[in-house]
Amino acid sequence: MTHILVNVAWPYANGPRHIGHVAGFGVPSDVYARYERMKGNDVLMVSGTDEHGTPILVEADKENLTPQELANRYNRVIAKDLCDLGLSYDLFTRTTTGNHEHVVQELFKQCLKNGYIYKGVQKVAISPSTGRTLPDRYIEGTCPICGADGARGDQCDNCGHELDPDELINPVSKINGETPEFRETEHFFLDLPALAEANLAWLKTREGWRTNVINFSLGLFKEVKPRAITRDIDWGIPVPVDGWIDNPNKKLYVWFDAVIGYLSASIEWARRQGDPEAWRAWWNDPSAPGYYFMGKDNITFHSQIWPSEMLAYNGEGSKGGEPGSYGKLNMPEQVVSSEFMTMEGKKFSSSRGVVIYVKDILARYPVDAVRYYISVAGPETSDADFTWAEFVRHNNEELAASWGNLVNRVANLMYKNFGEIPELDEDSMTDEDRALLEESAAAFDVVGGLIERHHQKNALNEAMKLVGDINKYISAVEPWKIKDDPKHLGTVLHTCAQAVSDANHLLAPFLPHAAQKVWESLGGTGTFSPLPRIEEVEDLDKPDFKYPIITGDYELGKTVHPWESESLVAGTPIPKPVPIFEKIPKEAVDEELARFEADLQARKEAEAKRFEHAKEKLAEQQ
Ligand code: MF3
Ligand code: ZN
Repeated sequence: MTHILVNVAWPYANGPRHIGHVAGFGVPSDVYARYERMKGNDVLMVSGTDEHGTPILVEADKENLTPQELANRYNRVIAKDLCDLGLSYDLFTRTTTGNHEHVVQELFKQCLKNGYIYKGVQKVAISPSTGRTLPDRYIEGTCPICGADGARGDQCDNCGHELDPDELINPVSKINGETPEFRETEHFFLDLPALAEANLAWLKTREGWRTNVINFSLGLFKEVKPRAITRDIDWGIPVPVDGWIDNPNKKLYVWFDAVIGYLSASIEWARRQGDPEAWRAWWNDPSAPGYYFMGKDNITFHSQIWPSEMLAYNGEGSKGGEPGSYGKLNMPEQVVSSEFMTMEGKKFSSSRGVVIYVKDILARYPVDAVRYYISVAGPETSDADFTWAEFVRHNNEELAASWGNLVNRVANLMYKNFGEIPELDEDSMTDEDRALLEESAAAFDVVGGLIERHHQKNALNEAMKLVGDINKYISAVEPWKIKDDPKHLGTVLHTCAQAVSDANHLLAPFLPHAAQKVWESLGGTGTFSPLPRIEEVEDLDKPDFKYPIITGDYELGKTVHPWESESLVAGTPIPKPVPIFEKIPKEAVDEELARFEADLQARKEAEAKRFEHAKEKLAEQQ
């Protein structure tokens, strides 16, 4: 039994999440965690909403809310969406808890003590109208290198060069069109060069990473510069240094705190269990691997920033040092990053209306149809496009026709002919019967091995291949034609049912909701696939701060229905069969496409209006 840490990227609490997001970090992490629990391992799966930094501030301004109010709103929305998707977090929390603040400050202080954080100056862009800093990507101008318009303060998309915002010709704020001012201010820096050697040495020991991910990660070490980890901003975690801690306009950089969430959430989970040291089994024991799930825009932060923060905390960079009270922290086993998903050929963009929110798709379609699509057609190792036509096709042909019909056919035949799981008469088994059961038993290692190596698409295809082979077996054996040999019919149906049950185990990590129904169709009772729930809790440290968490009792899946063929018991009553999956009417595709076009148009108009309004407001102020 191994302790396995499943760390899932923290969504920004600045709006509802769309399926592009959950295709990257959500469903893959849950499939993996569910599988490892069925294997009998001790999984701890944590995440939460990322609630600091400019992404939150900018949206709070737009919605006329304080940043905390905005974060409260979307933390709740996101927690509900992720819970409705069946994502089995042991703890889904947030970064504005008292616990998180405390853990982040402890890490900062130890890194400072070990000499990997130091003070320096940095040129920053300020919005003259608000006095706030403007993040690089909210500044636009002409590229000094290629002359293209619309280059961002961090990068020119035309020539691909990285830029500093003060290099732009005619820089303007994307928020309201004003010209930013540039000022030098004092900041703390993480000494990435002093950590680079150890960071890279660790990366070089990694095996089995996806090619894109390891190549991109290694590329980060061609040129390593120190990075500012504080910001001139009034929203974030206070910098735990005398003279800084009470400064309302200096806070820690959002990415510095967000990645520490994995550790702080593990600690919060342990504290909520009433066993405050329990998290250490996943963080201090070097034999406990940690897997990190995310989309590719997060790789830098998980292959370099977080590992370097841990090395600095552990005292393992070129300056030496020693770990603080959390002990020596485990480096990631693997950064499991997926690529990007587009929608109907366009880049997802909430502001441009290229979006389908989790809540909206779940309101119209079954949750496992969504999970299935993401697993079978998602951006695992290359970019992928979400299309409504493919969504409907995968549901109708694969889930409904192939898998759902198979379950129903077998359940119906048993229900009508026996009313229970019939006896298996070993002596009358044919070679075909034996071959099918051997195939389904062998599939556990095949599918499991693929999930362990994070080849979830192949794993799902292998499980669906078994479904196809069971269908072929039934077509060949034609049990409905076996009229006058109940013993033989019983053996055939028992064989089918056993193979269906095996396939259901293999599909359960992907389709936990359907797995429950299939289990019940075969006469099973009790929980087959445990589901998460929302619980309202009080902050452990901050008075009067209440929030929803996602949690659950997942031990069940691990102990009662492990990752192995579970023998069906003859005589188990079969209930009247009900369909497991419904076909989606073909017209749905056109309806969805029309809705998509209308959304695009509406957002375009709203965004233009909002920009005009901000420009007017600025003119009034001047
Ligand atoms: N909020 C970030 C995003 O949406 C992800 C943060 S992941 C964490 O891109 F590691 F920092 F938690
Ligand atoms: Zn350029």
